[in-house]
Amino acid sequence: MTQDIEIPKISQKHLLGIKYLSIDDINKILELAIFFKLKNKEKNKNYPILTGRTIINLFFEPSTRTLISFEIAAKRLGADVINMNIEGSSLRKGETLSDTAHTIGAMSPDLVVIRHSEDNSAEEISKLLECPVVNAGEGINEHPTQALLDAFTILDHKKTLKDLIVSICGDLEHSRVARSNYYLLTKMGSKVRFVYPKYFEPKDLQKYKVETFNNLIEGIMGSDIVMMLRIQNERIMDTELPSANDYFLEYGLTAEKLENAKSNALVMHPGPINRDVEIESSLADDVNKSVINEQVENGVAVRMACLAILMK
Ligand code: CP
Repeated sequence: MTQDIEIPKISQKHLLGIKYLSIDDINKILELAIFFKLKNKEKNKNYPILTGRTIINLFFEPSTRTLISFEIAAKRLGADVINMNIEGSSLRKGETLSDTAHTIGAMSPDLVVIRHSEDNSAEEISKLLECPVVNAGEGINEHPTQALLDAFTILDHKKTLKDLIVSICGDLEHSRVARSNYYLLTKMGSKVRFVYPKYFEPKDLQKYKVETFNNLIEGIMGSDIVMMLRIQNERIMDTELPSANDYFLEYGLTAEKLENAKSNALVMHPGPINRDVEIESSLADDVNKSVINEQVENGVAVRMACLAILMK
């Protein structure tokens, strides 16, 4: 049985982006997540420190992993959770995001989780609400809880986040996961590489201190972590893409190509995966190399830690 634990404080009221967190904040979240991971292995997974508190999940874009893990995290902590059904909401009658925020605010939530297609929407909504706001992925800006669960997973295997070579590969242009992972891993002392075909070059590349590669094999050479990204078809407007098969031949990770990374390299992917497009299906399922399912499992513990800290 786990003993009780003191919930630490961090420097931020909201979780809007990794760029706003200090190294100390990140360490506190990851340390508390270790406690919740152990708790989640017990028969009774509940740790009801948020009884009587209300969390609203406001997801304007589809989600499986993030939405469900936030809901499980909130329930295991004893909070009441409302998942707002966007399709059935007054947004479909033309209500604006700011009016929706004011409306939700009038019902006194204790925390709001938001996923949205627009950059900075979490920050916008945080200015209109009294309670903490968590960015659950917005536009191409940030997806901070994904980077935290990725860091937790890396730490579990590598015991450090320092001096690792992390190759983030694929659709860098549209990936909020890549940006949050860049901020987190460079803060913690690892070396991040952006590996992408030329048509997925990030428009804001000058902001990042990274080595860049346009060839997948060169980009993963000697890496400790190979993080593949989903092609964000929903954000691609004017780029002509190769066929799925041609993309896989050029940019899909296979067990054979992975041999260029370190022999103990971890294969990661935030999901959902496009099998045999970004990653060979059998490699995605190879538990000796791929930690994709562990990333999902760790998402619950990391989100429990985030909620507990922000609602302390
Ligand atoms: N990784 C991630 O954000 O997955 P979902 O879109 O399923 O939440």
